[in-house]
Amino acid sequence: MANLVTLTIDDKTVTVPAGTLIVNAAKEIGNDIPVFCYHPKMEPVGMCRMCLVDIGRPGMDRATRQPLLNPDGTPVIQFGPKLETACTTPVSEGMVVRTNSDKVQEARKDVIEFLLTSHPLDCPICDKGGECPLQNLTMAYGPGKSRFLYDQKIHLAKHYPLGELIFLDRERCIQCGRCVRFQKEVVDDPVIAFSQRGRSLEIITTSEPGFDSYFSGNTTDICPVGALTSTDFRFAARPWELKSVASICTQCPVGCNLTIDVRREAMANGRAVVKRIMPRQNEEVNEIWICDKGRFTYHFAESGDRLKTPLIRRNGELVKATWDEALDLVAQSLRSNSANLVTLAGGSLANEDLFNLRQFTLGLKGRLIQDSPMAGGEWTARVGLGAGSNLGALGKGSTIVVVASDLQEEAPIWFLRVKQAADRGAKLVVINARETKLDRYASAALRYAYGEEQTALAAFKPGAVVAEDARAAVDAVSAAENLVIFFGSDGLGIAETRSLAATCSNLLIIAGHAGKVNSGLVGVWQKANNQGAFDMGFEPTDDLAAAISAAGVLYVAGADPAGQSSALAQAVDSAKFVIVQELFLTETARRADVVFPVQSFIEREGTFTSGERRVQRFYPAVAAMPGARPDFAITAQLAQRMNLPIQGRVASLALLQIAETIPDYAGLTYPALSVSRPQHPIIGRSDLYYGGTSYENLQGMGVQLQPQIQTGHWQPAAQPESTPAAALQTPTAQSGEVWVVPVTRLYDQGATVTPSTLLQARMAKAELRMPTDLANSLGVAAHEQVNLELDGSLFPVKIVMDDCLPAGVATLPRDVGIPLNGRRIVKIQRIAEAAASLRGG
Ligand code: SF4
Ligand code: SF4
Ligand code: FES
Repeated sequence: MANLVTLTIDDKTVTVPAGTLIVNAAKEIGNDIPVFCYHPKMEPVGMCRMCLVDIGRPGMDRATRQPLLNPDGTPVIQFGPKLETACTTPVSEGMVVRTNSDKVQEARKDVIEFLLTSHPLDCPICDKGGECPLQNLTMAYGPGKSRFLYDQKIHLAKHYPLGELIFLDRERCIQCGRCVRFQKEVVDDPVIAFSQRGRSLEIITTSEPGFDSYFSGNTTDICPVGALTSTDFRFAARPWELKSVASICTQCPVGCNLTIDVRREAMANGRAVVKRIMPRQNEEVNEIWICDKGRFTYHFAESGDRLKTPLIRRNGELVKATWDEALDLVAQSLRSNSANLVTLAGGSLANEDLFNLRQFTLGLKGRLIQDSPMAGGEWTARVGLGAGSNLGALGKGSTIVVVASDLQEEAPIWFLRVKQAADRGAKLVVINARETKLDRYASAALRYAYGEEQTALAAFKPGAVVAEDARAAVDAVSAAENLVIFFGSDGLGIAETRSLAATCSNLLIIAGHAGKVNSGLVGVWQKANNQGAFDMGFEPTDDLAAAISAAGVLYVAGADPAGQSSALAQAVDSAKFVIVQELFLTETARRADVVFPVQSFIEREGTFTSGERRVQRFYPAVAAMPGARPDFAITAQLAQRMNLPIQGRVASLALLQIAETIPDYAGLTYPALSVSRPQHPIIGRSDLYYGGTSYENLQGMGVQLQPQIQTGHWQPAAQPESTPAAALQTPTAQSGEVWVVPVTRLYDQGATVTPSTLLQARMAKAELRMPTDLANSLGVAAHEQVNLELDGSLFPVKIVMDDCLPAGVATLPRDVGIPLNGRRIVKIQRIAEAAASLRGG
C-alpha cells in the first residue's frame, strides 16, 4: 500500500498517495487547476507558470523540530512569499493549497496577458476554436485587455507543413513543449524540436520526410492551441458542429478505442460524413493515443469505388442485379450443389459476420478457412492474456518477450505500451531474425537465422544448455512474476507460426504463467479481428490454393485470394460457383458469380476481438451507403432461403447467439460490452487543457475473455506437445537467386489504406532491401530497378541497401502488389539483362 498523504485544497480535504503532484490531487476532488505545459502522461517541466497556486505548509519550531500550534491547537500554516507551480510540486502532509486566492488570480491574468502578446488571436478561423485551452482559459482567467501594443506582436509563418500530415502555425505556438516532449519521452521519435530562443523560438522538424513518426497526430490532440493541426482536419469543421460516435480501429489487432466525429453536409446531400477520427480513452488498450494509420485511414469507407449494388454473372459478364435476384441465385445454386462449400473469411470482418458465416457453412457441411498469413489462434484462446490483464500495469518484476514481430510496424500502440513497460522497469526480451526498433528498449535481444526461431526458443526450455549470449534473456524469463509473450510472423509461414505459438504456449505453461492476470500469449495478427475469426472456428490453411480448388461453391467474405497470387486466382477460377461479399470490386469479386456489396465499419454496429482477446463494440457513425448491407445480414438472408435458423435482423442478436454457442464468449451481451469504468488520469471532460482532446470513454471498455486454461475448458497435456525443431533443411539460393522475406510495413497498399491519399508518400513501396554484401554478390546496385520472378510472372522492384539486415536475405513489404506469401527463394532478373536477352531473341 502506497504511503498516503492528507492535505487541504480550497478547504476540501483530500488523501492521495505520497508523491502525487498538487495538480493531480486537486483533479481528484474536481478542482481543475489551469495548465498549459503540464500533461498527465508526461514528466512535468514547469515552463508556462499557468498553474501557480498559493501553498502553505505546517510550520515547525526550528529549535525543537516540533510543529507550531495555534492557541486552539491547530497547526500554524505558513504560506511562502511566492506562488508555486502546482504541476511540479508534490503534496505533503498537512499542506494547505489555495487555487483561487487574489494573488493566484492576478498571476493567471499576467500569464495569459503575456502569452497573448505573441498570439495572433485568429480564433474565428482557427481549427482549435471551440476546444482550445488557450481560448477557454483566457475567457475564464484572462485580463480582458492587454497593456501591450498590438502593433508589436511578432508575426511568423502560418500554415507551415511539418510534413504531409501535420501543419504548424508558428504564431499560435505558446512554447509549452508538449509536442516535443511527447515525441521524445512518450514515443521516442524525437523528430521535432525547438529552434531559436526567446520570442523567435519555434518548432521545427529534424527528420526527412518531415515529422517522420507513426504517432504524429497525437500532438494535435495535446497541443493546447491551434498551432498543430492535421492536414486531414484543418479547415474541415468546427468542433461544436460535430457529432461523436464510439468506434474501434480496424487497422491492426490492438483494437484502439476511437471516436468518429461526423457532420451533416450540404455537399453530401445532407448526409453525415466523417470529419475526423480521434482517440477515446481506454487505459487498458490505447490509453489516450492512436497511431496515424488509425487516425487517417477511414477514407476508404467514403471511396467512390465502393460497390453499391449486387452483381450477378450473366453471359460471362457481371451485371447489376436486385438483392432478391442475387440472393435467389445463390440459394438456387447452393440447393443444386452445396457439396464442398468452402467459406474463406478475412480478419477484418466483425464477430457477428464470422459467426453467421460459420453457422451457415457448418449448416451446409462446408469448410471454414481463414485468410491469414499466420496461425496459432487456438493457442491464444487457450493461454492468452488472463482476463483483467493490462499492459499498462507491467513494470518491474514483469518480463515481456516479443518473438518474430516488428511491433512498431505491425501494431504501433502495442509497441508503445511495451516500450513504456520497459521504461517502468519491465524486462524486455526481443527475439527476431533482424533488428527492429524495439531492440532499443530490450534487456536482451536474441538473433536467429530465418527458419531457426525454434532453435532460439529451445534455450528457454527447462534444463536447456544456455549459450552465454542467451543467458540474460533466459534469466529474465525465469525470474518473471508476470510473463507476456507476443508472437508474430516476421518472415514466417503459416505452419511455422502454428509451431511458434505452441512453443511459446508451452513456455508459459511450464513456467506457471498460463491463465494468470497480466501474463499470457498474444498473437500479433495482421488484421483487427483475426482473433475473432479463430474463435469462430476459421483456421488458415497451409495450402490455400488446394483448399479453394477443392471447392464446389466458394464463399469469400472480406478476403481477396485472387488478388494475392496467380495460383490463387486460378484456384478461384476453378471453383464452380463463387460468392463474394466485399466493399470493392477486388480481383476475386471480378471472378465471382454473385457479388454482394457490404457496409463498412462506420455504417454499422458489431464487435471485434483484439489480440489481447478483448471483445469491443463499434457503433454506426453515418447512414449506410444505399445498396450495401452488413455482412452478417447478407449471410442470414441466404440462410433464410436455405431454411437455416440464423439471426440477421440486428447485430446484438447475433452476439447473443455467439454467447450461446461459443463457450469462450458465454455471457457476452452488448450492454456488458458498453460498461465504462473510471479512468485515470481523468481525461476528455470540459477541462481540455489538462489531457487534450482525446475523448472520455462513456460507451464501454469491452470485455476481456478468459483464456480456456483459466476457465477450465482446456487442460494442458501432462507432457507438453512437442513442436518441430528448426526447419530441416534450408535450401541455398543459387546464382541470380535470393532469399526474400515478406515483412509488414504499417502503411501498406491494401484496399483500406490507399484511398487515404495523404498517406501516399509514406506507403510501403515495392523495394527489395538487402545488405550491401548480398547486393554485390548479386551484381545489383542501390536504386537499381530489377524484376523478381514469382510463379512465372515478373514484378519490378527497386533495390535498397540496408546493412542492418542479416546476411544473405532480402526483405520485401507485404501488400505492395507482389504475391509473396512466406519466405522463399526468388530469382532476380536485372532489367538491362532481360532487355538484352529479349533483343537477342
Ligand atoms: Fe506547445 Fe503546440 Fe507550441 Fe508544441 S506547437 S510547443 S504543443 S503550443
Ligand atoms: Fe489502429 Fe492499430 Fe494504430 Fe491502434 S495501433 S490506431 S488499432 S492501427
Ligand atoms: Fe505548471 Fe505549466 S508550469 S502547467
